[in-house]
Amino acid sequence: MKKCTIREIGSHVGDSVTIGCWLTRRRSSGKILFLQLRDGTGFVQAVAVKDEVSDEVWETAQELTQESSLYLTGKVREDSRSPGGYELSVEGIEAIQIAQGYPITPKEHGVDFLMDHRHLWIRSARQRAILVIRARLIRAIQQFFDERGFYRVDPPILTPAASEGTTTLFHTRYFDEDAYLTQSGQLYMEAAAMAMGKVYSFGPTFRAEKSKTRRHLIEFWMVEPEMAFVEHEESLRIQEQMIAYIVETVLKDCRRELETLGRDLSMLERVKAPFPRITYDEAIARLKDLGHDIAWGDDFGAPHETAIAESFDRPVFITHYPTSLKAFYMKPDPNRPEVVLCADLIAPEGYGEIIGGSQRIDDPDLMEQRFKEHGLDAGVYQWYLDLRKYGSVPHSGFGLGLERTVAWICGLEHVRECIPFPRLLYRLYP
Ligand code: 4AD
Ligand code: MG
Repeated sequence: MKKCTIREIGSHVGDSVTIGCWLTRRRSSGKILFLQLRDGTGFVQAVAVKDEVSDEVWETAQELTQESSLYLTGKVREDSRSPGGYELSVEGIEAIQIAQGYPITPKEHGVDFLMDHRHLWIRSARQRAILVIRARLIRAIQQFFDERGFYRVDPPILTPAASEGTTTLFHTRYFDEDAYLTQSGQLYMEAAAMAMGKVYSFGPTFRAEKSKTRRHLIEFWMVEPEMAFVEHEESLRIQEQMIAYIVETVLKDCRRELETLGRDLSMLERVKAPFPRITYDEAIARLKDLGHDIAWGDDFGAPHETAIAESFDRPVFITHYPTSLKAFYMKPDPNRPEVVLCADLIAPEGYGEIIGGSQRIDDPDLMEQRFKEHGLDAGVYQWYLDLRKYGSVPHSGFGLGLERTVAWICGLEHVRECIPFPRLLYRLYP
């Protein structure tokens, strides 16, 4: 017997194959049974006809409940009406386990119930589609950087100090010392860029943010490229090329998953470089024109980002934020030191900031001054200062939030569905 996956059955038309699978639904019409099956690679319908199978197979088929596991043997037929284009005519069934009382039924369930059953919920067609797209995005991101000569570098997760801001650190003990879960690998990636030129990290980051919004996770994954001898402008070009590339890849490789999610593809097809750019100053002026109560020096909230994004049909960069709003390491604009050489990339359709990045301070004296202004312990950051003392060069980098990117590309309401097991404010289970 030929063993294959649902994804592969198209190359076995006319043959008998065996698939290991789960039953998602069973429907009968007298002497015909329709079995909806899934195996992780896809979905297919198998049809059992009473007169064509043994009594034993017919009986086993009757016993199969939602999420029962089985080996099913059947002949592959082309079927233009079925979503995958193929159907199986049942020849044999070997039940592996009959599931009893699967909690997620075809009826509607509340979000809390589904979140409590996340370990099972991910089996649904929608959740699987999201996780498949996430996996493809991860690969596309790595392909983009690998093909351009970047090295992947893995920064530590346990760190002695903050990289983004002291207010959102997760504290833990490291034997006799204090330690924190990383908020961003950036500072280490700067060291790596001075050793390897162009680098990127890809890993989990942690923020003890007491925010309960549809864009915040406590644990999220970030891609952080860092590039020696690359200034602000060149970094923006790399960012827009990367976003255009990953969107194009998902459009090409994940059509079926995007359809399962009901995503409006025309919105994604427009995502071509170059992306529009506006300065923080222009953004403030626009928001005032739109009637928002906002002044120069204020940070943007979700409604502001959404309002700005609405005037564009693709992601938009907001550049040159006030120095006071941004992280200590950002390089001031030489012509206007009250703003920094930075950009946030705002996704369309209200998805908000998906990338934050900047050129970094390369002058050791200014960096030391910033340590003082931000009350940072010069001892803990000594190694970071060394990067400016021994062959300092202009360099830039950015961080792409994976889950926000998945939410935008999939067209989802909330980032909680964009990571297999979300860590949210007040949710650590399962
Ligand atoms: O803007 P952020 O805080 O930038 C940094 O951490 C820099 N050190 C990155 C760098 O330059 N290497 O975070 C970067 C991105 C945001 O644009 C957003 O997409 C995502 O990380 N992000 C979150 N995603 C989900 N939940 C949260 N709580 C997030 N906080 C940031
Ligand atoms: Mg940011």
